[in-house]
Amino acid sequence: MRRALIAGNWKLHGQRQDLQWLEALSSQLGKPPACDIVLCPPATLLSDMVGQAPDWIAVGAQDCSRHGSGAHTGEISAAMLADIGCRYVIVGHSERRADHGETDAVVKAKAEQALAVGLTPIICLGESLQERDAGRADEVCQAQLLASLPDAAASDVIIAYEPIWAIGTGRTASAEQAQDIHQVLRAAFRGQNRDALRILYGGSVKPDNAAALLRQPDIDGALVGGASLDPVSFAAIIDSVG
Ligand code: PGA
Repeated sequence: MRRALIAGNWKLHGQRQDLQWLEALSSQLGKPPACDIVLCPPATLLSDMVGQAPDWIAVGAQDCSRHGSGAHTGEISAAMLADIGCRYVIVGHSERRADHGETDAVVKAKAEQALAVGLTPIICLGESLQERDAGRADEVCQAQLLASLPDAAASDVIIAYEPIWAIGTGRTASAEQAQDIHQVLRAAFRGQNRDALRILYGGSVKPDNAAALLRQPDIDGALVGGASLDPVSFAAIIDSVG
């Protein structure tokens, strides 16, 4: 049985005053949740989050360098993230693929850096609207998976299927559309134990659509952008884990 995981991705939002989100979330929930929780704030808040988060919230970064060290100004290595107590790192988010030209090979290198220092990479992939409309969603997602996975694809990686057309648009994949792709991804995973692989759905997950998505047999959690900024919405999504 795979334990559900709900991850929040704050993207380019959050300053120190927003750390009060932690208390707000705890008071919304009342009790520790029945799933794993990961919060990915911007890099400037990672240390404070690690220090202040209750033990049932793990902290993750939104990106890491593909390099281990060296002359790479502005980069943050996976080892640096592990050093301050991060446990996860998102790699290959479609916004980084689009804004920074990250290829599958770059994403794979980042995931390998993460695994090498004991961080769990959350590897993101997903098709564009054009690709979906052309009937190529399965093929595109499968190709991205195979090219972005570390060579020694352990089951301690997490995959996040995030159709680009559903991210931040308010338009979400139907539970059936998402389940179809998740099934394709699980079948294509070449790791040791594909039954243990956790595949999250991301793209306009909100309190009112979370339960239907999370009920699907191959959807093991959610990567939540916009709705994770509001502790009330994020708590409602966590509560919808059945
Ligand atoms: P969204 O973002 O929930 O705001 O659509 C999801 C993501 O990009 O991880």
